[in-house]
Amino acid sequence: MIKGIKGVKDILPEDTPRWRFIEEAARRWADRYGFVEIRIPIFEVTTLFARSIGAATDIVEKEMYTFPDRDGTSLTLRPEGTAGTVRSFIEHNRGADPVPQKYFYIGPMFRHERPQAGRLRQFHQFGVEYFGTPDPKADVDVISLLWRFLSELALPDLTLEINSLGTTADRAAYLPILISFLRSRIGEFCDNCRRRIETNPLRVLDCKVPGCRAATEDAPQLVSHLSPEAKSHFDDVLSTLAVLGIPSRLNPRLVRGLDYYCLTAFEITSSHLGAQNAVGAGGRYDGLVELLGGPPTPAVGFAAGLERIAMMLPEKSVPQSLPSVYVAAFGSEGTQAGARLLDALRQAGLSAQTDYRATTLKGHLRQADRSGSRFAVLLGDDEAKSGSAVVRNMDSKAQDTVALPDLPRYFLSLIKGF
Ligand code: HAM
Repeated sequence: MIKGIKGVKDILPEDTPRWRFIEEAARRWADRYGFVEIRIPIFEVTTLFARSIGAATDIVEKEMYTFPDRDGTSLTLRPEGTAGTVRSFIEHNRGADPVPQKYFYIGPMFRHERPQAGRLRQFHQFGVEYFGTPDPKADVDVISLLWRFLSELALPDLTLEINSLGTTADRAAYLPILISFLRSRIGEFCDNCRRRIETNPLRVLDCKVPGCRAATEDAPQLVSHLSPEAKSHFDDVLSTLAVLGIPSRLNPRLVRGLDYYCLTAFEITSSHLGAQNAVGAGGRYDGLVELLGGPPTPAVGFAAGLERIAMMLPEKSVPQSLPSVYVAAFGSEGTQAGARLLDALRQAGLSAQTDYRATTLKGHLRQADRSGSRFAVLLGDDEAKSGSAVVRNMDSKAQDTVALPDLPRYFLSLIKGF
């Protein structure tokens, strides 16, 4: 038997209503904030991700699904959506448009991580990218969109953690201070962090290993080394969040696992998620468009993990959609009339079904019950001859006799209120 790939899950029909519910909420919230949908490719040339996410990040070092195309070009399944969106923004010269470019996307991403609850190799993100505005209010727009969306879904115990990563110059000034602090405690770090001190020292600050956490407890903090410009940007973000009543918690250890960020960085976490506790995360990336060959363009965005949202979504939030009408047709004339009736109901806009394996009234009623249909139409040879059928309310068992041509209108008024 051929099995699915480890960390790559089927979303089965019993789960899709929950997914659709989440995706519809995401689209609604994106629309309210003026973000329009972009659909970017699932795979791109590898250098796009290596250059934007950063060669020394976990994603690029060990998590990408990379393969040669037939001509030898190295391609990669997208591990996230920002790089592709920026590539598309540049390629289609969207910066020339006088209207701010605000995009959202929903779709699968791929990372070769160790699978566990809430961590998959194919997972799905809802993300937004807001181009062209350096104003801290744009950061707040992006954060509040994510916060309002997750809050509307009533996800439990959400915390917005926020930090400032400063400007490029701020980081250039801060890194030697951090590195010399980390080197002075090199014996206390895990192997990975010992290596990161040289390759990606900021990441040592958010290592989850208890020894590393203890060793960095009193590390110099980037947030206390901000230039006046970065500090005023951060203060504006924090005060605007407060004006909107969105609670935030400063987390000086928050550095993010992708290299393109500057200034604002944030994560929304939930204690209900266990080790993989980030529901969504993002930040500002003012240098990325230029780094990838476009015009200087400030930008900010986030992405939220749909699997993690689906895990936490309260069961009662998802509306049940039951099939409407079951046509129980039997006998030779009844079956023919049944085929016509199914077609007429569907063309009228109703959800109508049957089970062709059932040939008796009893068999049909059993299947009507199992399917959860609200109504069954009982249609044998006698009914077909008389031109009317019996409608049975599957809940109350009440029955009604209705002329066949009137059935679409009958159900439309009953089910859709027309
Ligand atoms: P990220 O923090 O790598 O950021 O991912 C964002 C969210 O995707 C995470 O908070 C998590 O919910 C979900 N996620 C990530 N990896 C996995 C996984 N292996 N399994 C399940 N869910 C996962 C980014 O991807 C940035 N592109 C966000 C961004 C957009 N920044 C600016 N614009």
